[in-house]
Amino acid sequence: MQQESLYLIGFMGAGKTSVGNLLGDMCGLAVIDTDQVIEKQENMPIRDLFERHGEAYFRELETDVLQKLANGGAGAPAIITTGGGIILKEKNRQLLKESGRTIFLQCNPKVVVERLQQDTTRPLIKNKTIEEINHMYQMRLPLYLECAITSIDTSAQSIKEVAESIKLRMNI
Ligand code: S3P
Repeated sequence: MQQESLYLIGFMGAGKTSVGNLLGDMCGLAVIDTDQVIEKQENMPIRDLFERHGEAYFRELETDVLQKLANGGAGAPAIITTGGGIILKEKNRQLLKESGRTIFLQCNPKVVVERLQQDTTRPLIKNKTIEEINHMYQMRLPLYLECAITSIDTSAQSIKEVAESIKLRMNI
């Protein structure tokens, strides 16, 4: 792997965490998930963090974590999996573009909805209609594309297929 970390970005349910973990295993690289770092640091699940402190507080923590990782906080090049909204801030987009190679895991919003139907851990899709989720996806799409050097559609591929495709394309 080059001396750069690999970031996986994409909408909720696109498979970032599962693909990142498998890719880390396949390549012998550490995997760091920004949401998990925040949960550990705050000692509570993201859902509770949103409920108690609100989204803005979570977004500040998210930027802090990303900034540290971008400054070499991982200690060595790693696979960094991110929360779906990390691209919302200009500062984060800059960090993603400048400090590593960023891959967008694209996924059809209909598939996302199917995958997340039973999910109770994601505050931003709780009580949302399919149309609202689709709208959120469309609003974010240009931001994902802006940050990524390449994108992979995960809608109809297994986790293994996506991980293998990234390994091949990124030469890691
Ligand atoms: C969010 C996505 C979540 C988590 C938080 C906010 C978002 O991560 O960071 O609930 O704004 O899309 P996943 O993409 O891993 O679900």
